[in-house]
Order: sequence, then structure tokens, then C-alpha cells
Amino acid sequence: MSNWKTGTRLQSGRYEIDKVLGYGGSGITYRAQENPQGNFVAIKTLNSLIQNKEDFSKHQERFIQEAFCLAKCNHAHVIKVHHVCQEEELWCMVMDYVAGGTLRQYVNYKKGLAEAEALKYIQQIGSALTYIHEQGFIHRDVKPGNIMIRKSDMQAILIDFGLAREFVQDKIQTHTNSRTESFAPLEQYELRAKRGAYTDVYALAATLYYILTLQLPFPAPFREQGANLITPKQHNPNISDPINYAILQGMELRPKNRPQSIGEWLTLLKAKKVTASKKRNLRHSRQAILNPARKEHLELAIVSSSSVNQSSEKFSKSSLKETQTAQNISKIVSRSNSEIDYKKLE
Ligand SMILES: Nc1ncnc2c1ncn2[C@@H]1O[C@H](COP(=O)(O)OP(=O)(O)OP(=O)(O)O)[C@@H](O)[C@H]1O
Ligand SMILES: [Mg+2]
Repeated sequence: MSNWKTGTRLQSGRYEIDKVLGYGGSGITYRAQENPQGNFVAIKTLNSLIQNKEDFSKHQERFIQEAFCLAKCNHAHVIKVHHVCQEEELWCMVMDYVAGGTLRQYVNYKKGLAEAEALKYIQQIGSALTYIHEQGFIHRDVKPGNIMIRKSDMQAILIDFGLAREFVQDKIQTHTNSRTESFAPLEQYELRAKRGAYTDVYALAATLYYILTLQLPFPAPFREQGANLITPKQHNPNISDPINYAILQGMELRPKNRPQSIGEWLTLLKAKKVTASKKRNLRHSRQAILNPARKEHLELAIVSSSSVNQSSEKFSKSSLKETQTAQNISKIVSRSNSEIDYKKLE
């Protein structure tokens, strides 16, 4: 088994591979044409790296779970799966092909979005998440790179259900601790922790943070150790108070302090203003001053996380500044900024 080349025919000639659209930690996604002169489709399967691993069958089981989770969904802002099939030993899912780019590519190309446009996409993905929560799943990998923007009508579509799991709200279950730094809440760093709709609330709020500021929010474990999150408004003064407040509420470290459902969080986005007492509370919750011992610990943690290079998502220059551990960190910043993908839309 290996990755498929352009021209490879699958399913007795029904699909012809055109090109690779994306290559991730475990998956590879191709564009293919259905029947000669037919529509383009996107076909996702496990990549050659995983195909050659000893625990391939475990990955395949998880992949099939993703495929069937998606195949059950029918929502305007969730990617449509047409066909789940097996090509030799490999399971594949055939999806709608979305001509456009990811939200991450789009905002980087546009150098940030105005609030109204950002909120349109967030509302759409919010409704997709409410829908999948009603089906009993949490996505667990919401981020700008897993949202497509369709060029023809500028609608947002949620993709990549590779980490999606069935859940019972608030029940402690054993989950894999895969995640994307900067967008994953604290509970996703623990193998056995409660998860619920509020897990996706954090990631959607972090997504809004990024698309309005172009800065990656500080990862949850470092915040837990005392590094204050820079407010979105500090990065971008054009952000309104209610949106700034809603993002910070959605990104509360402790699940119990977050809105418990996407619907509840979306309501916060519609508020006309933020009362003085709410602003005061926010200031207090952000005023966790680092004591010297914690500062040192934090500095080490950041350095080791960077050298291990666990994720392609890195922290923003100004978020790192906020940790006040400038000397070592400045080295990391110059490295991490060059890793951000500024690829233009197709
Ligand atoms: N339906 C689609 N239409 C067009 N492009 C797509 C579609 N699905 C995925 N892509 C492209 O392929 C890329 C990778 O897809 P996806 O996010 O599903 O998997 P991944 O992140 O590469 O893999 P993994 O599941 O291992 O994280 C996306 O970022 C996007 O650019
Ligand atoms: Mg992805």
C-alpha cells in the first residue's frame, strides 16, 4: 500500500485521482473525478505513513468511526459524505469537494477579517456543532484549518472529524489525548477527563480569537501555569467589547466557567454591551500574577514544548511576550513565525 498517484482509478474505475489536497498526521485527502467528465469529489483515507505502522488496524478502526460519524450527518455546514468504501485493504470516504480554501488560508490571505464577516462563519460553524452535539458527538478538533470556505457562495463547512467521539455530557471517559495546541481546552490534555459540548465551545472561541487577530492564543497548559491570555482586543482594538468578552468567556480554562453549550456561547456574541461588573470580573480573572518559582517552571515548559515541536500550530509573538520570560522565548518566536502557512487560496 502507498499513496495514490494522479490517474489511479478506484472502485472499478468510478473515481480517478487528480491530486493531493492535504496530508495530515494520519490522513491523506485527494481530489478525484467521479466518472469521466463527472463532478470532483474529495476522497480521504489513511496516509502511507500510517499504512506502514504496526497498529494500522487500530488507526483504520478509528478512521471508519470518522467516516460513519460523518455519513450520519446531514447539515448545510458539515461536509457531506456520499460513500464509505474499501479499496483493497484501505477504507476511504468520498465527500463533496469544496472548491475554495481553509478558513486559516483565507484569513491569512486577507490579513484578518472584519468582525461581521468573522461572525458569519462562526455562526455557521456554531450551528454545525450544535447539530453534531445533538447527534451525540463532539468534534474535538475545531480550528481554522478544519473549516473550509466555499468560494462559490462563501459558506463555511466543517471538515476533519478524525478526533470526533461519541460522548455523554460530563461523563468521565478515556479519550486519546490528541489535540491541536492553541485551540484545545485543558481537558483535552488529560486522558481521563470530563468532556462535553463545552470542549468544542473553547475551540470555536479560540478560532474566533485567531481569525480576528491573526494571533494564535496561548495554549491552555501554559495559561494554567499562570501565563495570562492576551485579550483579543489588545491585539486588535477594533474588536467590540461584547465579542472580546464572549471570546474570553468561551476560552475560560475551567469547563464549568465556560458557556455549557454552543447555543449559550452564540447568545453572548449577540450582546449589545458588556456591563461594568462583567468587565471587572474579567480583569480579576486575568490578574494571576506569576510568582518567581512558577515563572521559571513556565519558561522551561515553553522551551521544551518548542524543541519537541509537537504541533505545527505555534504561539504568537505577543502571546509569548506576555509570559515575561523574554530571553529564551525570543529564540522560539522567530522560528515559530516562519512556520505559519501563508499559502493563498487556490
Ligand atoms: N471536502 C474537501 N474539499 C476540498 N478540500 C478538502 C476537503 N477535505 C479536506 N480538504 C483539504 O485537505 C486538507 C486535509 O484534510 P483534513 O483536515 O480532513 O485531514 P488532515 O488534517 O490532513 O488529516 P488528519 O485527519 O490526519 O488530521 C484540508 O486542510 C483541506 O485543505
Ligand atoms: Mg485537518
